[in-house]
Amino acid sequence: MTIDQNQSSSNVAVVGLGKIGLTLAAVFANNDYNVFGADISNDVVDSVNQGSSHIDNEPGLEELVANAQQNHTLSATTNTTKAVAQANVIVVIVPVLVDEQNNIDYQFIDLAVQEIAKGIKKNSLVIFETTLPPGDTKNRFGKKIAEISGLQLGTDFYLAYSPERVYSNRIIQDLQTYPKVVGGLNEKSLELASNFYKKALDCQLIEVSSLETAEFAKVAECVYRDVNIALANELAQFADEQGVNMSEIIPASNSQPYSHIHSPGIGVGGHCIPIYPYFFINKGLDQGITPLSRKINDNMANHSLTRIEKEIGSLEGKNVLILGLSYRENVKEPTKSTTLLLIDQLKKKQANLYVNDPLFTNQEIAGYGVIPLSLDDPFVAELDIVILQAFHQEYRTIDFSHFRTCELVLDGRNKLDQNTITKLGINYQSIGNQTNKRRPLDEHDK
Ligand SMILES: NC(=O)c1ccc[n+]([C@@H]2O[C@H](COP(=O)([O-])OP(=O)(O)OC[C@H]3O[C@@H](n4cnc5c(N)ncnc54)[C@H](O)[C@@H]3O)[C@@H](O)[C@H]2O)c1
Repeated sequence: MTIDQNQSSSNVAVVGLGKIGLTLAAVFANNDYNVFGADISNDVVDSVNQGSSHIDNEPGLEELVANAQQNHTLSATTNTTKAVAQANVIVVIVPVLVDEQNNIDYQFIDLAVQEIAKGIKKNSLVIFETTLPPGDTKNRFGKKIAEISGLQLGTDFYLAYSPERVYSNRIIQDLQTYPKVVGGLNEKSLELASNFYKKALDCQLIEVSSLETAEFAKVAECVYRDVNIALANELAQFADEQGVNMSEIIPASNSQPYSHIHSPGIGVGGHCIPIYPYFFINKGLDQGITPLSRKINDNMANHSLTRIEKEIGSLEGKNVLILGLSYRENVKEPTKSTTLLLIDQLKKKQANLYVNDPLFTNQEIAGYGVIPLSLDDPFVAELDIVILQAFHQEYRTIDFSHFRTCELVLDGRNKLDQNTITKLGINYQSIGNQTNKRRPLDEHDK
């Protein structure tokens, strides 16, 4: 029996209305689908039902949500089972994270899958978009849905996996630009999922031969990024020792087609790149370059603080401001942010810690056990050290002349204006660009 593509599959449930889920829901709802969104957060559900996006800095999203709400094509509920019961296509985009020991944490998605299983109708298609350890779509979730619902996997309901590959701040654009990789449990699942995406996203498709291939492709992308950033960070540390400048080296090296050296920085954060390598590491890829890269990238916070100590001595009692709680620029996302590693280590070093982030409230920042500090606060004149962790757009215009007692700025993203800072008599440090500190290689060094 096949799904009636014209009628029933125009009802879609999107489970998880975060940065990605809400954007998908809004795009589907503006492409002739009736979308029933589900999220465990009352605030998220309320804002969607008022036609408003709870996600900032996502170009086009606010308009799409408002438009869909006006056209009655998008509604939200905290009752996942009810949303799923009204749909024939169910898209799951609830995060899988890792805990403090880097064990995979399935609590959110397991809960979502149980609720989906209670509401799913015969002939429905379930598509997982969350990044998953290969094998989980079928073995952990497909089988669980079958067990709870009593429906037969592959004949009573269909199963597909299609990773989300977009980048926050340009999700709508990326959904149109990047091909959608799709894998199915069987031929019918693949056909239904591909037909759905052709219509709902109007994008190019890459159909792969299995669920596991599609799952693996996404984790492989993230491992590639982590390993390549680790290489850039390793080269940057060595460049600092050798007195050469990575911002000159990278374009020179990358001027032929076989070199793609990434940008070095103070660390890798967020709920993708530092997490997904563990989906391989925890399943047996526990030797070699994948776990080593994780160590190198997580050590960059420590490396940066050691650099500061080499320049100005002990950090005990120093007033240190970190710019950016978010893991990267212009996104409100603290998961695995390098700032959390910096906070932990600076506390051990007994520094006085201040954090600024225009995307977070003071209460949210204080929740991390640090003092929130506005850049307009006169106390900036008493800071000793400033560390740039996330280069939010607000930091483009910082006037460091107000930081009157500042001894050192560590530019963790190589984005600040070195000349302006050094002219103020402040010691400027960055990652891989220390030519001002050491002489270049001489003939006798070779
Ligand atoms: N954000 C990115 O840049 C990005 C990029 C590529 C892929 N992804 C994938 O998308 C996933 C989601 O990312 P995001 O940025 O949208 O996350 P997010 O943290 O912004 O949103 C997750 C949403 O899921 C909701 N949720 C949690 N448990 C739930 C449950 N049991 N039922 C229903 N809703 C539940 C939360 O309340 C939240 O609104 C990631 O885990 C990753 O696999 C994200």
